[in-house]
Amino acid sequence: MIYGRDINMTNKVVVGSQWGDEGKAKITDILAHDADLIIRYQGGCNAGHTVVADNKTYKFHLIPSGILYKGKTCFLGAGTVILPEFFEQEVNELIAHGIDVSGLKISPLASITMPYHTEVDGYSESTAGKGKIGTTKKGIGPTYTDKAARIGLKIGDLYNLETLNEKLDIILPLKNKTLEKVYGLQPYTKDCILALCEKYAQIFKPYVCFEWQELLENFRKKQILFEGAQGVMLDVDYGTYPFVTSSNPIGGGAATGSGYGPTMIDEVIGVAKAYVTRVGEGPFVTELTDETGEKIREIGHEFGVTTGRPRRCGWFDAVIMRYSVLVGGLTSIALTKADVFDSFDEIKVCTAYKDTRDGKVYTHYPTDVFMHKYLEPVYETHKGWKSDISKIREYENLPENCRKYLERLEELLGVPVSIVSVGPDREQTIFRK
Ligand code: GDP
Ligand code: IMO
Ligand code: MG
Repeated sequence: MIYGRDINMTNKVVVGSQWGDEGKAKITDILAHDADLIIRYQGGCNAGHTVVADNKTYKFHLIPSGILYKGKTCFLGAGTVILPEFFEQEVNELIAHGIDVSGLKISPLASITMPYHTEVDGYSESTAGKGKIGTTKKGIGPTYTDKAARIGLKIGDLYNLETLNEKLDIILPLKNKTLEKVYGLQPYTKDCILALCEKYAQIFKPYVCFEWQELLENFRKKQILFEGAQGVMLDVDYGTYPFVTSSNPIGGGAATGSGYGPTMIDEVIGVAKAYVTRVGEGPFVTELTDETGEKIREIGHEFGVTTGRPRRCGWFDAVIMRYSVLVGGLTSIALTKADVFDSFDEIKVCTAYKDTRDGKVYTHYPTDVFMHKYLEPVYETHKGWKSDISKIREYENLPENCRKYLERLEELLGVPVSIVSVGPDREQTIFRK
């Protein structure tokens, strides 16, 4: 017993193990069935999460997909950043779908994305030239920048006018100077910001949870699911920096961004596609710019949920995945989209990188991403299974070549593949015994 908690109950973190869009929401949705509390621990509305359940498709950005189950508590932790208008729109859409949002709670310590954050994100992206990151332009980087610089606004500030006024007197002169002098953007008056904050206070009022410490204490003995957004390779400390987001999607991020420390985490499930995709700029050693990449994009419907951008596609990369297992703290893998390969004759897996300049082979991920242009993937080739696996529900019933492929991935990564997803629907899931 730890904190009076039965240690057989496992608290799980769902982590994206590649560059995002691995199918985290589908896996979170399934695991949320047995969870009492679902906590989103980082990121903001840069995320685009899809859940297909009961013949309906739900799109989420900020709100944990656990909200689909009536009676669950969903908490947006201190590590998240929230764009108020976007949050309001998402909540309204869920209500319009008949979803009960009464279990939704927000930490007063979550950061607010202000209009100047989105303006700066847009400006930086439009003028960066070669240094462009390809962000979602949702103000994520500038919001986290202000948080780290200690000049950010938190949800809780909206409900104490004295604090808000004191903070704005420090923040606004600084902000306006940078907006005007660095970015050539319009400054904000204090009255304008106060009026916005009044509006935001109304938006968050039904959800802000000042009693969050009591809430988390009460759930200590229950089942907790931590939901990550983005992925390990987009982590600000460990990803393909600077082509990353500005938060910590790794398993450790759940310990800082949720309100619970690391002792409440038992398992970290890394969600990985059977191939790799990436949206935005940055290195991608196994990227396929040929008709095979096009085929994966078409069959896998690889277009962004948040921005609609076509996703870059490539073969499964065991080099980044081994790295992800290490830095993400992954204890097992949920492999999604294996069904996309149903018609493929051959499937490749990258086991190492080779430097085209001197022939040096890397089995560990080289972190100087500006040198990745000199790297080429070393592939092994697997025979396809050439049959429809989307209706299979038992691991033993998967075609032999498919099982061989999955077992080889386990061997390369050193962790078990505990879940195999064979389609977007909740039902299309195989649990390994
Ligand atoms: P997330 O951001 O990690 O939650 O992933 P997204 O929702 O952005 O993208 C994953 C997409 O793949 C969604 O459209 C899912 O409905 C879909 N999906 C998830 N798992 C599977 C699967 O096993 N097979 C297929 N064909 N689609 C899947
Ligand atoms: P989910 O949770 C895929 C990418 C952007 C860009 C970089 C920085 O759906 O997996 P940002 O707006 O965060 O400053 O952009 O990160 N990115 C994602 N890519 N899935 C996501 O979320 C992403 N969130 C951000 O494309 O390259
Ligand atoms: Mg996504």
